[in-house]
Amino acid sequence: MNDAPNFAAYTVSIHYDRRLYRQDIAGSVAHARMLARQGIISAEDAAAIVDGLGRVRQEIEDGAFPWDASLEDLHMNIERRLHRLIGPAAGRLHTGRSRNDQIALDMRLYTREAVADAVAGLRGVQRALLGLARRYQPVVMPGYTHLQRAQPVLFAHHLLAYFEMFQRDIGRLDDCRRRADVLPLGSGALAGVPYPTDREFLARELGFSRISANSMDAVSDRDFVVEFMAAAALCMMHFSRMSEELILWASGEFGFIRLADEFTTGSSIMPQKRNPDFAELARGKTGRVYGGLMALLTTLKGLPLTYNRDLQEDKEGFFDTVDTLQTTIAVFAAMLPGLELQTERVESLAGESGMLATDLADYLVGKGVPFREAHGIMRELCRHCDRQGIGLAELPLEQYQRFSPHFDRGVYGITAAASAAARNNPGGTAPPRVAEALAQAERAVAESESGADY
Ligand code: ARG
Repeated sequence: MNDAPNFAAYTVSIHYDRRLYRQDIAGSVAHARMLARQGIISAEDAAAIVDGLGRVRQEIEDGAFPWDASLEDLHMNIERRLHRLIGPAAGRLHTGRSRNDQIALDMRLYTREAVADAVAGLRGVQRALLGLARRYQPVVMPGYTHLQRAQPVLFAHHLLAYFEMFQRDIGRLDDCRRRADVLPLGSGALAGVPYPTDREFLARELGFSRISANSMDAVSDRDFVVEFMAAAALCMMHFSRMSEELILWASGEFGFIRLADEFTTGSSIMPQKRNPDFAELARGKTGRVYGGLMALLTTLKGLPLTYNRDLQEDKEGFFDTVDTLQTTIAVFAAMLPGLELQTERVESLAGESGMLATDLADYLVGKGVPFREAHGIMRELCRHCDRQGIGLAELPLEQYQRFSPHFDRGVYGITAAASAAARNNPGGTAPPRVAEALAQAERAVAESESGADY
């Protein structure tokens, strides 16, 4: 029997880092061009390298590349293949470079793309939210605190709250992009390289706005990965909260919304079920994104400068986060437009008089009663109605007046719509405020489409 364990497998990363092949090849092409421009390698060798790398890329895309786990990682696989294809010139590519600055470059290039994809996707989610807000713009629904019905709000106002969350997510991603936008190549293994390289040229070729200032930092820094994962964790938290609301709203108990058929599933035994699985899974997947962030922070916390092999462990969790975020974004962008609001149901609940107790207190304030006192009067009144099992709207005026002489017939004119309309200051739920906020949000999204984001 020969089943000696293959310990070498422990170090292998090719099954996941091959995902970086485009970035790795782009970095190598720029590096080869730079080496030739600087007279470090010949123009012929550089041309052969660039041509060979193009063939490698094609082979990978055609599924014809002979991946070899015994070569450990992506970088060695590509270099070995290049050697097979173009011969000894391939051996000159790694002049003035180390796998340490190479992988740092690949990760930065990849992060930049992941940010751009996430931002574009989030704009789509925002557009879906704005579309729904427009469709149901005048509808008043119950707003909640403590998951108890609290005050009437516009459905559009509720949706715009999520618009704001995604605005902040986009801001955080953009911040991460700016931090990732620094070229590490040219740092060598850790100390710099003994060749007259042109790092500014590399930065221009690869679309970076700056070059790293310290070679030791550049090869060991993965802050930008942490930042992406932290931004993703927050963004998933927002999707998870929205999911929780959709799940509640889609329940028979709430009956606020109906989700499109393709985003619900039946039960294998209960024929009446319309389970909101997509929202549930988004809520569930938030956990693995948090986990990835914690794992990376923990991997980094004890590392001495500079490169340590531990850094290889940054990838799987990061890729998983990129995929989870991107698919969640795509699901929501597709699911939201098909959401049907049960307008009558939400409006009738919003109109229940219990929701208007605050407005009645404010009404007393309008008659000169101090707010604290008005609040006390209304608390007593609500208790009284509770005991009698009636709503505020059914309480006769003389009973109102037993609690305060300031009540008059005006109490019956307070409706959910009037309540919402009264909250007419910036950030409030009055229809003109919401219309303004909606228009402003639409402008923000339109401007980002004209390229202001990137
Ligand atoms: N696979 C490695 C990583 O992902 C690449 C860098 C390896 N560098 C080294 N000196 N072994 O971090």
